Amino acid sequence: MGDRVPGFSTLSIHAGAQPDPTTGARATPIYQTTSYVFDDVDHAASLFALQTFGNIYTRITNPTNAVLEERVAALEGGTAGLAVASGHAAQTLVFHALMTPGDEIVASKKLYGGSINQLTHSFKNFGWNVVWADPDDIDSFARAVSPKTKCIFVESIANPGGIVTDLEAIAKIAKDAGVPFIVDNTLASPYLCRPIEFGADIVVHSATKFLGGHGNSIGGVIVDGGSFDWSASGRYPMLSEPRPEYAGIKLHETFGNFAFAIACRVLGLRDLGPALSPFNAFLILTGIETLPLRMQRHCDNALKVAEFLQNHPAVAWVSYAGLPGDKYRSLAQKYCPKGAGAVMTFGLKGGYDAGIALVSNVQLFSHLANIGDTRSLIIHPASTTHRQLTDEQKIAAGAGPDVVRLSVGLEDAEDIIADLEQALKA
Ligand SMILES: Cc1ncc(COP(=O)(O)O)c(C=O)c1O
Repeated sequence: MGDRVPGFSTLSIHAGAQPDPTTGARATPIYQTTSYVFDDVDHAASLFALQTFGNIYTRITNPTNAVLEERVAALEGGTAGLAVASGHAAQTLVFHALMTPGDEIVASKKLYGGSINQLTHSFKNFGWNVVWADPDDIDSFARAVSPKTKCIFVESIANPGGIVTDLEAIAKIAKDAGVPFIVDNTLASPYLCRPIEFGADIVVHSATKFLGGHGNSIGGVIVDGGSFDWSASGRYPMLSEPRPEYAGIKLHETFGNFAFAIACRVLGLRDLGPALSPFNAFLILTGIETLPLRMQRHCDNALKVAEFLQNHPAVAWVSYAGLPGDKYRSLAQKYCPKGAGAVMTFGLKGGYDAGIALVSNVQLFSHLANIGDTRSLIIHPASTTHRQLTDEQKIAAGAGPDVVRLSVGLEDAEDIIADLEQALKA
């Protein structure tokens, strides 16, 4: 391609991939192997000492997964990626590289319910504490920062509320505090928003959603933005201090602007173990080839559905940042100018019972706990995904009793709307 910088669609299809050098296979092969034969004893020794890049064991590296890692890093504009078994695994490995017992994560309280659980309950067992901040009150992030803060964590478009986060403003607070800014970009995907361009240091994905895009594989990806100085403060010892198991090398000193991705791989993935199956990597890679086409269609359909709901007498309110007049419209225009994504929430005038009735009467929509499928999906978060939260947490997370969440799929918009219309009537 010479000196041309490839466009997003070209990268979605080609980044990281080349015809298989042995067979000429054009699609990326599924390297379904646990381990790799060493050239000789010296080769093995240099691989184990991190002196040579190469494959040892699929828990740590795999050639199919490597294509996925390079592709997502390219789409996000990062320096390196790491593919793991799920979005939650991606989050766990990111925090594992940063946190020691007693440290704090400053997190947006507008997050996917599972992430609120992960941060509130499971991470407590590691001695990692969370301090919540409100993306509708940017100063609350600055107020939440303490000497124990190790990072700030938000979602670009938050699940389930249709909330767009002011990334640049929060990135500045993280920079002033000297901590990395981590953005979960699952709902936007890099087609709609590239958080690194707005100051994110690390991006995480549930590849289960729009990257894979077909509702068939669980996976996660970490992208290193390459921007954070891990050695400056001495507060990130995993990256700045000598590693005894790797002959005393310091990861940041040795690997520079992709040291964070290396740390997540050679410490977190090696020891905690949530490796992605190469088969899932293949399916997610295949999904990414059509990411730009799918995301645009998701957005176009979602806007039509939001407009329909806004005018329906049974609907009290619609939260979709693509709608003119929506509270997050101007943030969406800044951060996601091509569209506000597939996910929206709306409130039914009939409250909790009407929400249950609606999800029971849809026919084209599937009632299930997922987003980012080709199919249109519906859920009543208060009785399902956000059930474990207190009422206060539910409302704070945009999952109050009357709320219904849609992930608008790629079917004909007229059919999606017709299904909602008959279910709302029923
Ligand atoms: C925004 C967001 N982040 C993370 C996750 C967790 O991802 P996974 O289910 O792949 O572990 C989800 C799952 O719904 C999500 O919506």
